[in-house]
Amino acid sequence: MMDYKITKTQFGETPTFDLPSPLFLKELGEEGVVKLFNDFYDLLTQSDIANFFPQEEEELEKVKAHNVKFFIEACGGPKHYSETMGHFDMIKAHEPFSITEKARTEWLGCMQEVLNTINISNEAKMSFWKYLETFSKHTVNVNTGIELPENIVKV
Ligand code: HEM
Repeated sequence: MMDYKITKTQFGETPTFDLPSPLFLKELGEEGVVKLFNDFYDLLTQSDIANFFPQEEEELEKVKAHNVKFFIEACGGPKHYSETMGHFDMIKAHEPFSITEKARTEWLGCMQEVLNTINISNEAKMSFWKYLETFSKHTVNVNTGIELPENIVKV
């Protein structure tokens, strides 16, 4: 079992982060990333944050495709995202959605579930997880001031 630690976001922080190790894409392959995001979106659209995502299948497929391109590029693969979409602004892209720490935790939780099903080295998995865990802090744009129970967010 992997130790997927989630640390709390200090509201407003935009921590620096490392991109995933090239091992991740090397072991999983681009097809593997496509499958990972298909499975991830299946979980997201059943989750407590399902309402953030398009209800319409065609729109959802577009968002998924953008995510796949973005993550393949972030993992050291071809630059399909920046070549077709331009620069990605993490804060701006998520601004239309009211993302609390709890929503971020839910998003990461769905990702944990999917990562548990893929068969790659722990080293590769962990480097992807660490990237997501840190970079996802940039999306939190609503401060509820509510402390989450220790069993949900481990400090
Ligand atoms: C490291 C973490 C994350 C990365 C790199 C990331 C990246 C992205 C990218 C590339 C897109 C597609 C933008 C486009 O269409 O060009 C996107 C869309 C979106 N993300 Fe994230 N995201 C992250 C975390 C989160 C979290 C934590 C949430 C919510 C809890 C979230 C919610 C959304 C939503 C709702 C959309 C757009 C749906 C729409 O356009 O209708 N993301 N994200």
